Amino acid sequence: MANDRVASDGVVSDGVAEDGHEPDPQYRIETRAILAGRRGNEGSLVAPVWPSTTFETSTVAESLRLATSLRPQAFYSRYGNPTVRAFEDAVADLEGAEAAQAFASGMGAISSLVLALCSKGDHVVAQRQLYSSTSLLFAGVCPRFGIDVTFIDATDATALAGAVIPGRTVLVFVETPANPGMQLVDLDALGAIRGPLRVVDSTFAGPLVQRPLSHGCDLVVHSATKGLAGHNDATLGVIAGPADLVSWIWNYHTVHGAVASPYDAHNALRGLRTLSVRVRQQSETALRVARSLEGRDGVAAVHYPALASHPQRELAARQMAQGGGMVSVELDGGWEAGKRFVESVRLARLATSLGGPETLVTHPASTTAANLTPEERAAMGIGDGLVRLSIGLEHPDDIESDLAGALAAATRPDPPHPAPAGQPAPSTEA
Ligand SMILES: Cc1ncc(COP(=O)(O)O)c(C=O)c1O
Repeated sequence: MANDRVASDGVVSDGVAEDGHEPDPQYRIETRAILAGRRGNEGSLVAPVWPSTTFETSTVAESLRLATSLRPQAFYSRYGNPTVRAFEDAVADLEGAEAAQAFASGMGAISSLVLALCSKGDHVVAQRQLYSSTSLLFAGVCPRFGIDVTFIDATDATALAGAVIPGRTVLVFVETPANPGMQLVDLDALGAIRGPLRVVDSTFAGPLVQRPLSHGCDLVVHSATKGLAGHNDATLGVIAGPADLVSWIWNYHTVHGAVASPYDAHNALRGLRTLSVRVRQQSETALRVARSLEGRDGVAAVHYPALASHPQRELAARQMAQGGGMVSVELDGGWEAGKRFVESVRLARLATSLGGPETLVTHPASTTAANLTPEERAAMGIGDGLVRLSIGLEHPDDIESDLAGALAAATRPDPPHPAPAGQPAPSTEA
């Protein structure tokens, strides 16, 4: 019986062993990524998968205790699950947080967070350049519940702070780097805002690149579907922060119900073990790719935080340990050039996700931002010729030559139209 064991046995009261392998704060983050989230392993090197939806108890008193305790991990899996908890503990450790809560997806995390923390009449300040579904949540869903949202270009730290209404703004929500334009938000300036909770979607960076809580922000959120899990085999979200805030969100989450699967949590935990080497390699290759595309014919701009030309290069150097694996490229030829680029890759895949081992290309105007008007897209910095690259783990030479080939295809002039039957072909000579 799992739940009748006691702490004096070296076992926590809700049924998962303390095996003494919690990371020691003396270790660097790369080492902690290997050690974190092992509390319930009971001798296994790998976190066991606990698929059980429910956990038996031997007494009513024990059931009562579990039903009324915060975040029990072995009671009923909508409330918590030991495999999911192992993943949550690992993320909390890497983000320097007291606690973390996992969700069924990044959007499950973000919508639970917003609806847990905001009520009718509250005000939110949200970055204008957000992932499209997050924008939709703030622009389309929040107003239906009487939550007012002000959208701000969050690259302007003064404007961000200035949009806060004292006594009414409960949340400031930003994403840095922003998807897909790679704009950055100054985390120190965000952490210095007093009053509202300061929340950062750090999906494009991850804890090996930046740790928003160390800048004074309150909560960090991830689509763990991306780089944290890192293998395109888990759909998962996670929030990390102070234990009381995480418990508050968990309380709402138990009715919202966007519950993380233990199988996905298991895959994500395995992915976390290699996070540091993946991010290092992806950052190295991404910088090389960004440099190789910049200034080429047909390329209007390359957006990558570690490029000398990034308008917020100094901010990147201050708050990001590496550039990360995401690059976006603005092509001169608009929609047609973007379309040709993403349809011409041979090694990379045309697919809408990021952070995995395969290099992926996306044309945001026809995918993630397809439901926005051209004006809305322009306000978010998403031109019709923008292509987003998620740099994978293939050999950098192969990635570079694949993308160079796609650029050549995107910028090649149209072949002359075939002459109508019976007429001579038009001359191509000047
Ligand atoms: C920055 C960012 N946040 C949140 C999400 C939503 O994550 P999920 O697809 O796991 O719901 C995404 C998805 O692409 C994203 O890019």
